[in-house]
Amino acid sequence: MDELHRSLRAYLKHLELLGVEDIPSPSPDPGPEGQLQELKQEVLQCRACPLHRTRRNPVLGEGNPRAILVFVGEAPGAEEDQQGRPFVGKAGELLTRIIKAMGLEREEVYITNVLKCRPPNNRNPRPEEIRACLPFLLRQMEIIKPKLICTLGTFAAQTLLGTQERITSLRGRFHQWRGIKVMPTFHPAFLLRNPAYKRLAWEDVKKIMAEYRRIKGQGP
Ligand code: URA
Ligand code: URA
Repeated sequence: MDELHRSLRAYLKHLELLGVEDIPSPSPDPGPEGQLQELKQEVLQCRACPLHRTRRNPVLGEGNPRAILVFVGEAPGAEEDQQGRPFVGKAGELLTRIIKAMGLEREEVYITNVLKCRPPNNRNPRPEEIRACLPFLLRQMEIIKPKLICTLGTFAAQTLLGTQERITSLRGRFHQWRGIKVMPTFHPAFLLRNPAYKRLAWEDVKKIMAEYRRIKGQGP
């Protein structure tokens, strides 16, 4: 040990003579939790589209930073904008019930949206807003590395899958996106207005559950 100590001292002396004054230590790996925290700070500073002027709080997302399953909605609504949390209004209550019906908790999955800031009066996201905001969603998926994504409604499905196809033809089957299985289904807000479609949404959710169990090694 003494020897190691001596040679380390000699090496540092050598560096000093060479004019090295500071040895940068490798910064600790922040892990997915830390990386999402950093991303949250970036969203707070974001000025990439005009929505930062009218929103109260940006909504990055919440849940398990190592989630197998991620839900992607459209954009924060009034309640989400108030609280800075995704899906906490009426549509959120339905999403929470759906997650529980899957035998999961909100804390086990991750919930986010295509847009991180609320469009005024909940108008539809504009293409340039989606373009400006998409890097955040991509970074979230790179950090979390989910195996499954459930897109909620037209915008999330079309944005992620890069298609103009309608939700009615996209839903019900898995699509591939960057090696991740994507199941598009209806938006909970749409289901609240059109309860007859809940049956179809449940078919989609059952397919996600089967895949989730298979991935966790509990299924066929
Ligand atoms: N609708 C969405 O698309 N996202 C939310 O977070 C809330 C409502
Ligand atoms: N139209 C939408 O925008 N979302 C749905 O979920 C269904 C129809």
